[in-house]
Amino acid sequence: MASITLTPMRRRDIPEVMRIEHLCFSDPWEQAAFERETTNSFSRSLLARDATGQLLGYTIYWIAGPEYHVLNVATDPAARRTGVARRMMDHVLNEARREHADFVALEVRTGNVAAKKLYVDLGFRIIGTRRHYYRDGEDAEVMQLRMGT
Ligand SMILES: CC(C)(COP(=O)(O)OP(=O)(O)OC[C@H]1O[C@@H](n2cnc3c(N)ncnc32)[C@H](O)[C@@H]1OP(=O)(O)O)[C@@H](O)C(=O)NCCC(=O)NCCS
Repeated sequence: MASITLTPMRRRDIPEVMRIEHLCFSDPWEQAAFERETTNSFSRSLLARDATGQLLGYTIYWIAGPEYHVLNVATDPAARRTGVARRMMDHVLNEARREHADFVALEVRTGNVAAKKLYVDLGFRIIGTRRHYYRDGEDAEVMQLRMGT
């Protein structure tokens, strides 16, 4: 999708972000969690908007020493399979390369076929499992993309 713009999340964006968060996740983040991400020095975020300003998706990630850690990637169900998540993740990976990160990592639900396909397409590999990582008991797979590989 050519006309997507990417900007950091500001406090005033949080209601729009939370609308999508609630459409996307069974155990959504609360407002306070998003607010913290707008002030954490190690947190970065991207909001993807179309040419009309409509929010299509967002991602939040942390920079922890040599690691970029992706906490959250979500696309409005009405905008899926149009390249929104790929566009945001490409931005994160390019930034990580530019900033000389060693690797980018994330957790994903074992059963999240769509997200795992996205990450594998981008070059991530499964490097481990965190048992019962999610509140409902589902395991997480830890995926990692080493920079320069
Ligand atoms: C996973 C998610 C972020 C993908 O967002 P998206 O904007 O629709 O993804 P894109 O259009 O950029 O797709 C990029 C690639 O990911 C893969 N993919 C995306 N959705 C897929 C699906 N439903 N089934 C299989 N592969 C899928 C494909 O490889 C796709 O490339 P293609 O369309 O050329 O085949 C979205 O489905 C979502 O918000 N899900 C709910 C929240 C979530 O699970 N987030 C991840 C938490 S770790």
